[in-house]
Amino acid sequence: MKEGNMGSLKGKDILHANQFSKKDIEAVMKVASEFEKELKKKGVIPLMKGKLLATLFFEPSTRTRLSFEAAMQRLGGGVIALGPVEGSSVSKGESLADTCRTVAQYTDVIAIRHPKTGSAKEAADAVDIPVINGGDGTGQHPTQALLDVYTIQKEMKTVKNLTVAMVGDLKYGRTVHTLVELLALFNCKFYFVSPGALRMPEEITSHVRQQGASVEETEDLRKAALESDVIYMTRIQKERFQDLAEYEKVKGSYIIDAAFLKNLGKDVTILHPLPRVNEINPDVDSYPGAAYFRQMRNGVFIRMALLAMVMGKK
Ligand code: NCD
Repeated sequence: MKEGNMGSLKGKDILHANQFSKKDIEAVMKVASEFEKELKKKGVIPLMKGKLLATLFFEPSTRTRLSFEAAMQRLGGGVIALGPVEGSSVSKGESLADTCRTVAQYTDVIAIRHPKTGSAKEAADAVDIPVINGGDGTGQHPTQALLDVYTIQKEMKTVKNLTVAMVGDLKYGRTVHTLVELLALFNCKFYFVSPGALRMPEEITSHVRQQGASVEETEDLRKAALESDVIYMTRIQKERFQDLAEYEKVKGSYIIDAAFLKNLGKDVTILHPLPRVNEINPDVDSYPGAAYFRQMRNGVFIRMALLAMVMGKK
């Protein structure tokens, strides 16, 4: 694996929140911010001319895959996609490692999403080119967490010392598993708001507490929202439930709408990795603190930064 303490991201994999220090995160955000400004003027920043990204997505994706592809093309590079599993030798029983070895012969960097936790590391171990984890099962989603931090920085003008409520499916949600570890580095305080059955895994809660973060677990969204600067909503991850009857019990547990926000009587910033099902009513979309559409746009700048950095172009 091409991980480790960074300094420079050149040649490294992006697999897990725990590989990032506060300085690393700030370095990625700085490059993303430069790209954001430059892109506005130029439309393309051709640092990756002649380089190819492979996108291997074994699970559904709209934002992550398309923003990776947009990011590579905005950097002047090219993209090849594995496409649906039925169309590749994966359907003939080829292993993930062999598929990645193949792709590494044709391309310079891989972005992968896969239903199995730990699969991104498995891919990274099989090849010499950088592998970027676009979500591995219920495990990690580091590029999302970095774009979430970048969004918070832009919206709040800081990521330090904030109170953040993470709401919804904290058990299966890989976005919150990753984001909480990054925000803990910035001295944030957390409310974990979920039904009892979907609590944050104990090892993550105790790890962020060990890092010095204050964490309060509650089922009461209003109470947490009253104390928070940022509300990070998540979708109940239906596809991760073994028993759909269990899903039925918890779906729709937390819903934010305009009336809820009005009642709160204070301003709050609302993030969501998207897709949303019903956790945020569309009547919230015009609320000034509704940052989730701006958040998805930020994904392009963060993924541009990561691609350029692992390729040694920044
Ligand atoms: C998230 C994911 O895939 O983990 N989506 C995303 O990448 N923007 C969240 C989700 O699917 O609920």
